Amino acid sequence: MSAKTSRSNSGGSNPSRSDSSRSDSSRNESSRNSPGDYGGQRSNMEDHSMRETLAAQAKLIWPFERGFLPERPGRVLDLGCGTGEFLRRIRAEFKCDLAVGADLFPGHLRHAEPPVVHADGHRLPFADGSFDFVVVRHLLQAIPDPVAFLGEARRVLAVGGRIHVLAEDYMGLFFDTDDALVENHFPEVQPLFRERGTDLYQGRRARRHLAEAGFAEITVKPLMVDNLTGDRDAFASVFHAWGEGYAATLAELTGRTVAEMQARFVAMEQNVLDPDRYCAWLLFALGGLNA
Ligand SMILES: C[S@@+](CC[C@H](N)C(=O)[O-])C[C@H]1O[C@@H](n2cnc3c(N)ncnc32)[C@H](O)[C@@H]1O
Repeated sequence: MSAKTSRSNSGGSNPSRSDSSRSDSSRNESSRNSPGDYGGQRSNMEDHSMRETLAAQAKLIWPFERGFLPERPGRVLDLGCGTGEFLRRIRAEFKCDLAVGADLFPGHLRHAEPPVVHADGHRLPFADGSFDFVVVRHLLQAIPDPVAFLGEARRVLAVGGRIHVLAEDYMGLFFDTDDALVENHFPEVQPLFRERGTDLYQGRRARRHLAEAGFAEITVKPLMVDNLTGDRDAFASVFHAWGEGYAATLAELTGRTVAEMQARFVAMEQNVLDPDRYCAWLLFALGGLNA
């Protein structure tokens, strides 16, 4: 499944059906849909490139995102904290009473500053109402049952506590490119990822998922970064790291070559670096109240 290349890519996949006449491949799909499979992206999530991805994304997005956060967030849980990029920033710039991270992958936690705990977000080792602010960033797309996941986040929130979700929707990536393959890249791969447990269009569904998980006063705000007003090098690094981490998986999913997939990410990176060609990423920042 994983195929390391000269740019060190890794593969991973997974699905979500459970009918009674399952084929071998669908049985594999089912086991890959366990929490430890990260929505079919286990090897991608755990690839070394993810560290570069998370660092670049935080550098790019934080200046825009911090305006959505409360000045005094109280007791904070960063759920799926990864390498601790957000934790580091919220601890430094906000008045937190406590800021704890939780993640499924110990390899990421090693890079995060404590306190952090190794935990599956579906079964958190915290009592009801332990936190005032729960953060879920760049993660829901890889959770096959986001409502259950968000329900557990709500359980550990105190009454009156709030959740902050940064949700991805890959139709929100805009390239000024002449390359039709780049233009059509995400529409091509979305259904392939979806049947394996990852939803690249999660952003548009996040509001409904928060409502179904019982949150009140839900807000949805667009968070747009681009290559003119944002950190262009950090933005380019995002695509570089995605190419490193996902080209082999995408080749496997689409039946195309790893080289072709890498070329798409190189084209995206070049688009970002060219100030004469606009490139933007629209994400959604959502908030919700545990009433
Ligand atoms: C794309 S990373 C985002 C990391 C971090 N939130 C950030 O914005 O930098 C997704 C993270 O979610 C973690 N993760 C995936 N499924 C999880 C689960 N069920 N419980 C806890 N963490 C999970 C992965 O290990 C990974 O660190």
